[in-house]
Amino acid sequence: MNSFNKKKYIVTGCAGFIGSNLTDRLLKDGHKVIGVDNLSSGFKDYLQIESSNFIFLEGNIVNYEFLSRSKKLFNDVFGVFHVAAQSRIQPAIQNPFLAHSNNITGIFNILEIMRDCDIPRMVFSSSSSIYGLKNDCPQREDMEPDCLNPYSLSKYVGEQYIKTWCKLYGIDGCSLRYFNVWGPREVIHLKDIAPIVGLFFRKILLDKVPLTIVGEGSQRRDHTYVSDVVEANVLTMNYKERMNGEVFNIGTGKNYTILELAEMVLKSLGMDESHIEYLPPRPGESRATKANNTKAKEWFGWEPKVFLEQQIENHKNYYLNKWNLNSI
Ligand SMILES: NC(=O)c1ccc[n+]([C@@H]2O[C@H](COP(=O)([O-])OP(=O)(O)OC[C@H]3O[C@@H](n4cnc5c(N)ncnc54)[C@H](O)[C@@H]3O)[C@@H](O)[C@H]2O)c1
Repeated sequence: MNSFNKKKYIVTGCAGFIGSNLTDRLLKDGHKVIGVDNLSSGFKDYLQIESSNFIFLEGNIVNYEFLSRSKKLFNDVFGVFHVAAQSRIQPAIQNPFLAHSNNITGIFNILEIMRDCDIPRMVFSSSSSIYGLKNDCPQREDMEPDCLNPYSLSKYVGEQYIKTWCKLYGIDGCSLRYFNVWGPREVIHLKDIAPIVGLFFRKILLDKVPLTIVGEGSQRRDHTYVSDVVEANVLTMNYKERMNGEVFNIGTGKNYTILELAEMVLKSLGMDESHIEYLPPRPGESRATKANNTKAKEWFGWEPKVFLEQQIENHKNYYLNKWNLNSI
């Protein structure tokens, strides 16, 4: 890449699972990144603090004063990848204030600082949870939202904020609805509300307890690998036309039952179904997700490259390595 193509970006939520993978990719591609994170669920260890192309601003996007103090740094920023959020459904049900402040006030503040600093473009991390229970698989972007919890609602409101700011203030951007993202650095420290792939590996390899399945394990999920999500962010940020807040599904278009996933994880570890335990069903979650991803393909040529069954072995090795386990 020549220096003409090098840009300066802001990544909010840069210390989290998706934000840190995205930041690594941008730095690898030679760009400058200003990372913003309050470390509420992210980790400083994930950041390339020593890189001369990276600046870390530790603070809360809910606090506009904090953003405003850094305005001088935001000169010539090409775009914001708005990834930061209260990122889980169950904590948002227990404490809706978390989703409201971090996700709704959060995106409002980011759009406002963009307006203030003439930053032209935002790519927003939205969620497939917006489809809820009403919408059958495969979910399409033009389906009626069915927000079952404060988290999904906050993501839907975020999408509407972008659309409105695009109309009124000349900002451009889009929302990417991710379908169950998995991969290195997935959030596994959150006990039973951690994303399912990582949680399964943690239970067996680290906690040495059975895998737990909520309900009977027939819920289906579309599992999207983090590098595919990162690629979608990069492609949309560089899309040549205006996007006016368009919404795109980022999912593989393939889904698996939780039971199938559990079996896949156990098989990769040479174990059988006797290592599964069943939990009562939880409220506020959808039965099945599967993306119709044709819109992302048609608009900006995005296609998933990594599928669960091909990558699960590598992922097992990632965890063996991470926890210094030679084998189980
Ligand atoms: N992981 C998934 O399967 C998935 C699916 C759909 C959508 N998403 C969305 O993608 C984004 C990233 O998710 P993730 O899985 O990487 O979650 P994560 O919790 O690992 O990352 C979120 C990051 O945002 C930071 N953050 C939270 N509130 C903040 C605030 N007020 N100010 C500054 N920083 C703040 C956290 O410290 C964390 O580093 C989120 O917006 C989430 O809603 C994730």
